[in-house]
Amino acid sequence: MSGDRELDIVVFGATGFAGRLVAGYLAGHAPGGLRIGLAGRSERRLTDARAGLGAPASAWPLLVADSADPVSLGVLARAARVVVSTVGPYRAQGLALVEACAAAGTHYADLTGEVLFIRDSIDRCHDVAASTGARIVHCCGFDSVPSDLGTLVLHQAARADDAGDLLDTTLAVTAVRGGISGGTLASMMGQQDEVRASAERRRVAGDAYALSPDRAAEPDLGDERDLDWARYDGDLRMWVGPWAMAGINTRVVRRSNALQGWAYGRRFRYREVTGFGAGPAAPMLAVAASAATKTAEAWLAFGPSRALLSQLLPAPGQGPSEKTRRTGFFRMQIHTRTSAGARYLGTIGAQGDPGYAATSVMLGETALCLALDRDHLPDRAGVLTPATAMGAALTARLRSAGHTLAARRVTQLPHLSGPPRKRRPRLLPPRVSRRVNLRGYLLVN
Ligand SMILES: NC(=O)c1ccc[n+]([C@@H]2O[C@H](COP(=O)([O-])OP(=O)(O)OC[C@H]3O[C@@H](n4cnc5c(N)ncnc54)[C@H](OP(=O)(O)O)[C@@H]3O)[C@@H](O)[C@H]2O)c1
Repeated sequence: MSGDRELDIVVFGATGFAGRLVAGYLAGHAPGGLRIGLAGRSERRLTDARAGLGAPASAWPLLVADSADPVSLGVLARAARVVVSTVGPYRAQGLALVEACAAAGTHYADLTGEVLFIRDSIDRCHDVAASTGARIVHCCGFDSVPSDLGTLVLHQAARADDAGDLLDTTLAVTAVRGGISGGTLASMMGQQDEVRASAERRRVAGDAYALSPDRAAEPDLGDERDLDWARYDGDLRMWVGPWAMAGINTRVVRRSNALQGWAYGRRFRYREVTGFGAGPAAPMLAVAASAATKTAEAWLAFGPSRALLSQLLPAPGQGPSEKTRRTGFFRMQIHTRTSAGARYLGTIGAQGDPGYAATSVMLGETALCLALDRDHLPDRAGVLTPATAMGAALTARLRSAGHTLAARRVTQLPHLSGPPRKRRPRLLPPRVSRRVNLRGYLLVN
């Protein structure tokens, strides 16, 4: 990695909704002396975005680059040691920049949750990045940092106890509140369109090991499809339903396992669900939330309903209000059993809207980690995952920033044997408004 770069970190997409938040996080938290720049396709909009960041960013250089112009992306990639990109949808806008960073030996991180884009990035850029020393790290936001680091922390706890490999492992989202931006909606619809248009792309998107570094070497563990409807889970002793982000997070976690030589275990079966507890309302909540997920997917899939929704949902550049970002939060548990018969519980969570406030912390700390923690990172390069590119260094940073990432050995599930709740979980139905809450329709405790 070249130490002769003009800048340490560049935020590409700094004029967008997520990009402004990430740049704002860096303005407030980067140590003095770190050389940070802002990049985008319009100098005027970049000047406005920088003005909104206050005094710490007033002298940050501005770089004009367009994702449709590979020459400008090459200049951008060679200008910095780390490029973080919030220019999406990534499938349409992202691959040329990944290629430029891989070729230049520049570390790269983004917020994509698009499986097909990541598959293409692996196929086209992994070997190049491995040879230049670049760490290409996708999914550095709410998808998939909590899942990926949460599982790593669980694995490390079991390994420290010499408790064997991880076997059946389930992440249950127990509470989440937040909003959604126009850019995220555009990315979701773009991936839906691509999957519908091609049987081959459908096959890749539906493969539990879609992001594997070596598909033929993956173990055959039976049916590993994501949950698609509510049911009672006898092992977890609670009602569960589908989790909207399982389709990306599970693939990322399985890739992390494979990139570490299947360190979590060859019989590691990983899934993600929404957890509704076991109270009297739980079955109804689980069914209602499953139906809401399917309805939202169907409405986003087709032209006429999309056109209607576009009048009501945020447009690109728009996203949740400051109040929604401040009052949002998420909480997750990961349950696992090990080959030695031990049981572990992971807890993950943070205050702040998961997709925007907490995500800007995750991507901002990723940028700082790649730029500053070189001596503490795993010895790897290529198209990686948050856990395999940064592992314990990013975990420590996020804990210092107030995120919970913990794991402990347990003798039984604690979720239903604890003291009675003061208030019943409350289901928030998806509200169709400009502050729509498509990802935040779940439980608020
Ligand atoms: N994983 C997560 O948890 C998470 C959370 C939030 C967002 N995201 C993802 O992040 C991405 C961005 O979301 P967002 O809400 O910030 O979107 P957004 O507000 O629409 O921002 C998009 C950014 O891309 C820039 N852009 C568009 N076309 C470009 C081009 N040809 N060349 C250079 N820049 C270009 C825009 O610049 P202009 O201002 O010039 O138009 C803007 O800065 C989406 O893919 C979304 O799914 C993921």
